[in-house]
Amino acid sequence: MTNPRGNGLRSVADQSEEERGGPGSILSRQSRDHADLDALMRAHDAETDPDARGRVLAELAERALRHAFAEETVLFPAYRTHLPEHGEELTRHIEGDHQQVNELLEQLQDADPRSAGYDELVHRAFEVIRHDAHDEEDDLLPRLQRVASVEELRAIGAAWEVQRRVAPTRPHPRVPRRPPGNALAAVPLSVTDRVKDAAEHLAGAGAARRAGTAVAAVLLALTAVAAARALRRR
Ligand SMILES: [Fe+2]
Ligand SMILES: [Fe+2]
Repeated sequence: MTNPRGNGLRSVADQSEEERGGPGSILSRQSRDHADLDALMRAHDAETDPDARGRVLAELAERALRHAFAEETVLFPAYRTHLPEHGEELTRHIEGDHQQVNELLEQLQDADPRSAGYDELVHRAFEVIRHDAHDEEDDLLPRLQRVASVEELRAIGAAWEVQRRVAPTRPHPRVPRRPPGNALAAVPLSVTDRVKDAAEHLAGAGAARRAGTAVAAVLLALTAVAAARALRRR
């Protein structure tokens, strides 16, 4: 199939898992997560009960934010290193989309689902999330694939997955979208987000899982502090 961007690259959407570098490659991991996000957006639109819709939206928001945070801390820096002449412009554009998603999801977090304009905000967020996935699958990821080895694509995939697991779970539009600012801000936010998540889900089965991830976030924080101290001593 022809790439809709007309850039002569094979979109990740048209490649088999083997062509993407196997299940652990950043191309395969991104593709799977984009498909899951899309399924959640469609599930949201198919749902008629407002409370159930809200639950689907909350799940989607958390997943989209963690996905984007891990891109900002792992994938985009790797892309700028591999493609210094292309990397700045394209990642700046996608970071702008991530910023919009953070702002829209923050507005939705505080809005009444039955209020006028709520659905419009939801669908503006969906539109940016879908556009973002296309930017990555049709442009950024196939460009990275041309210059990075399969081993590098798998290493980026593994690092992206680690960051995705410990990432903040709520929108933070006032946090920088680039390292080191985003990574430093994320350390306390990952913990406070999960404390809020656990409080909200205390009665549910999700609490234990979230508490476990909070412990992982604290460990990440301690590692980051130790690394920063070691760097300062050099
Ligand atoms: Fe993205
Ligand atoms: Fe993505």
